Amino acid sequence: MENIPVFRPLLEREELAAAEEALKLGWLGMGKYVGDFEQAVLKLVEAPDRHAVAVSTGHAALHLALMLMGVGPGDEVITPAFNNIADFQAILATGAQPVFCDIHDDTLCLDLADAETLVGPRTKAIIAMDYDCCLCDHDGVAAFAAKHGIRVLHDGAHALGSRYKGKMVGSFSDVTMFSFDPVKTITSIDGGMLIVRTREEVERLHRMRLIGMGQPASVMYQNRRAWTYDVQELGFRYHMANLHAAMGLAQLGKFDRIASTRREACRRYNAELSGLKDVRVPATDFEGVTPFLYYIRVPAEARQPLRDHLTTKGVDTGIHWQPGHWFQLFKECRRSALAVTDRVGNEILSLPLHSAMAPEVQSRVIAGVREFFQ
Ligand SMILES: Cc1ncc(COP(=O)(O)O)c(C=O)c1O
Repeated sequence: MENIPVFRPLLEREELAAAEEALKLGWLGMGKYVGDFEQAVLKLVEAPDRHAVAVSTGHAALHLALMLMGVGPGDEVITPAFNNIADFQAILATGAQPVFCDIHDDTLCLDLADAETLVGPRTKAIIAMDYDCCLCDHDGVAAFAAKHGIRVLHDGAHALGSRYKGKMVGSFSDVTMFSFDPVKTITSIDGGMLIVRTREEVERLHRMRLIGMGQPASVMYQNRRAWTYDVQELGFRYHMANLHAAMGLAQLGKFDRIASTRREACRRYNAELSGLKDVRVPATDFEGVTPFLYYIRVPAEARQPLRDHLTTKGVDTGIHWQPGHWFQLFKECRRSALAVTDRVGNEILSLPLHSAMAPEVQSRVIAGVREFFQ
């Protein structure tokens, strides 16, 4: 019996052909495909008035975004405690401290009333992370940031191709980031992207992603490089490789299929699992969103026995996530009571969700969950 993983990238002949072409080209570092991938993502997110900057990972995108906002030692950044470790580490990497706020029980996204109690003189920015198919109250986040004179880093790692009030994620926030790591909705093997408003921000990001070198992207995007340049600021080796961008482009070419098959699989899960007394499914019809994962909530004491049962059926499950304040490194961080986060952290469970998931594979997952609860 084949094991069903939580995630499985959709790698078909287009990706293999793209990789082969990029390898044959022989220009493996940052090059033309990176510029093409940036433009293709801007098109997907319907943000012709914005700029895209591709980087090596989502974590690198978060780190650079915070640096771009001037976040540094002594500052604080408010983030939901229910978030990816990459966000917490990116804050630490700037020398600032994360401050953990709670989430709403229904949307699993940040609770602005709770965040309000945490704002202090050192607050520099807030991270608004869309948890899977649930989007934040982004109008509320923008108003909150304007009121407190702080910046917004929109973590859209889960939300590529999702709409908020009709607008594509990436087209409306202060700064938005995406991730294309191996398990994301689309993958470039590893990769990240920032969507920003101004040319000036782009130019700083171009330097910061390339160990500070003032190497023009316009030259690199012709698969060439300049040999003389200045170094004006701190930078990191965070640029995206041509091979990775070529993979990302191949995935973008099939985005509609990826999005629609993921939506359909989530709808089927909701339809077949919502009747179970102890299972809470996402309260959405998935219209207008491109789901990254499929999560359910189960009573805390049932979660591990359910995971064990599914393991015997060859079905893997995941936990997204353990909240930030549960980790040793972040225990002392300033935070609110985090009652909802603690509850959700014990109840949340990810079931396998793949693009173009075979119906019989999904049936095995559903049967395993139903068997356990019946
Ligand atoms: C919400 C969120 N933000 C950021 C990241 C980091 O992205 P990457 O894995 O590309 O560094 C992830 C990764 O899973 C994520 O889920």
